[in-house]
Amino acid sequence: MVEFPAGFQWGVSTSAHQFEGGNVHNQWHEWESRGRIRSGDACGAACNWWLTAEEDLDRAQSLGLNALRISVEWSRLEPKPGRWDKHALRRYREILKAIRSRGMRVFVALHHFTHPTWFEYKGAFTSHEGPEHFRLFAERAVTEFGDLCTDWITFNEPNVYAAFGYLFGEFPPGRVRDMQAALAAFLGTHRAHALAYDTIHRLQSDAGVGIATHYVVFRAASHSLSDRLLTRIYDAVFNRATLSLLKTGAMPGTMSVVAGRVPEVVGKIDFVGLNIYNRLYVRWPTGPDKTGGIFVPQGVPQGDHGVDLPYGEAYPDAVFPAVEAYAQLKKPIYILENGVPDRSDRIRPWVLVKTLENIHSLVQRGFDIRGYFHWSLVDNFEWNEGWRLRFGLFEVDPRTQKRTPRLSARLYRDIVTQNAISDSALEHFGKDPSSRTG
Ligand code: BGC
Repeated sequence: MVEFPAGFQWGVSTSAHQFEGGNVHNQWHEWESRGRIRSGDACGAACNWWLTAEEDLDRAQSLGLNALRISVEWSRLEPKPGRWDKHALRRYREILKAIRSRGMRVFVALHHFTHPTWFEYKGAFTSHEGPEHFRLFAERAVTEFGDLCTDWITFNEPNVYAAFGYLFGEFPPGRVRDMQAALAAFLGTHRAHALAYDTIHRLQSDAGVGIATHYVVFRAASHSLSDRLLTRIYDAVFNRATLSLLKTGAMPGTMSVVAGRVPEVVGKIDFVGLNIYNRLYVRWPTGPDKTGGIFVPQGVPQGDHGVDLPYGEAYPDAVFPAVEAYAQLKKPIYILENGVPDRSDRIRPWVLVKTLENIHSLVQRGFDIRGYFHWSLVDNFEWNEGWRLRFGLFEVDPRTQKRTPRLSARLYRDIVTQNAISDSALEHFGKDPSSRTG
């Protein structure tokens, strides 16, 4: 039996665009209209949360959760610059109240990859004015919802946002290998975070403000110097840039020489959010494609395969380096996302049990981890992969909106309600399923 500390936060994470449906005001809707969703799927009603979130919130409550993470969609709230939508403000208040009335503490992200198209046309976070536009949005959101929430995530994964949008062409605006713009976008999100951090604290004395960063374990494909060097560069630039900015105001290593600085962000963090899924392999030379030498070898545990690319090696030990690195900030840590695309629930139980066992061992070693949020409650619209990758504890049929619990839903409910992983769960699901590769 592996027992968690009293008051440990057990949650699920969600995001506006992937769950709500029916929004046409953000850059992702435009991206989809231009035929850029690789799976060809349409976001459509998504999980229909704009109309019926309460039904899934009942499901979250039935799992015994005491926390839930959502995001509020800037483009719904401010579809035109300075024009605030009263209906959207009201609906978010309803959703926030519905979460709280079901006994769950709510964490709200202000930016989860999406923003209004008008903001995108202005250059988003690469532009000089971008951070101030975001600050104004944060100010309005906290003014409107501050009586219902004190835990704010300014940005979800600035590293994924910048890399996928400006280096890999996978997210809007779809730029490929535009290093200058990627850096501008990344630093811009941190400038915006610093501004919003101050504003939120001015409005709310008991606020907690954090960033959720994505952490990937990179592993060199061989012992060669070039593979190892490239691996270290990826680790520094992707995993440790937010850490470095929060500690020193500069990018890590030699990047600090070429990239600008964000001195105003230093120390502006009340909690650390970590989103942890995968291990990826790195080899040099990187070849002509845009993957930059990153690949997933045969024979490692994997969930569902994306349309063109594998999602990554499911790797529960990733929590170790992620937590050890970000503990340097000496702030409470929340695992704000963890999961695996796995339609048939083949390896999810292992990912869940093993990741939680690892988190528990980190807590035992004295790391201040306060909560775990599974990605996600129900299958949802997975960005460029559409409905292809299934992350839910509950399966969703997007045509009928029917939900069906997977085995992992019951497993998570048992862990949450006991605040512990039972011996039998450890025995049944704690083993490495590398023989069961996908
Ligand atoms: C993102 C989510 C996404 C999940 C699974 C995270 O990087 O924040 O929006 O659905 O990974 O890929």
